[in-house]
Amino acid sequence: MLDRAQAPSTEEIREVVMPLAGLEGPLLPMLHALQDTYGLIPEGAVPVLADLLNLGRAEVHGVISFYHDFRDHPTGRHVLKICRAEACQSMGGNALAAATLKKLGVDWHGTTADGAVTVEPIYCLGLCACAPAAMLDGRVVGRLDEDRMGKLLAEVRA
Ligand code: FES
Repeated sequence: MLDRAQAPSTEEIREVVMPLAGLEGPLLPMLHALQDTYGLIPEGAVPVLADLLNLGRAEVHGVISFYHDFRDHPTGRHVLKICRAEACQSMGGNALAAATLKKLGVDWHGTTADGAVTVEPIYCLGLCACAPAAMLDGRVVGRLDEDRMGKLLAEVRA
């Protein structure tokens, strides 16, 4: 996990993104590479990318904030994404989300005090037939209820 004290230098950011400079439409691959490397988009990346790709800083910022997957804050060791789209809502997703947040003592985008889990909303995981659904560290899980969610979280908090 990266904190502000460990913010990468301009040179380090350039080292991560430069190999992708020859791609057509390199901004998204560069952002993914940065997030894969640091777990977030470092604060100093916006001017580096804007300069490198001849874009305005606002444009780069706009892309980062448009895609929910990019984040500018560190996460816990595990990321739980709970579906908040319609099919899941109609199957009790809201109540499940509320109970999960309460149990973990966090709000959306929050991280548990032990640093284990960050909870984020997501809007459809393509698992509507098995609603309500969530994704834990990239693994999708359907037909969730409070009990199953508790077991899922116990796995990663043990
Ligand atoms: S609405 Fe939740 S998986 Fe599609």
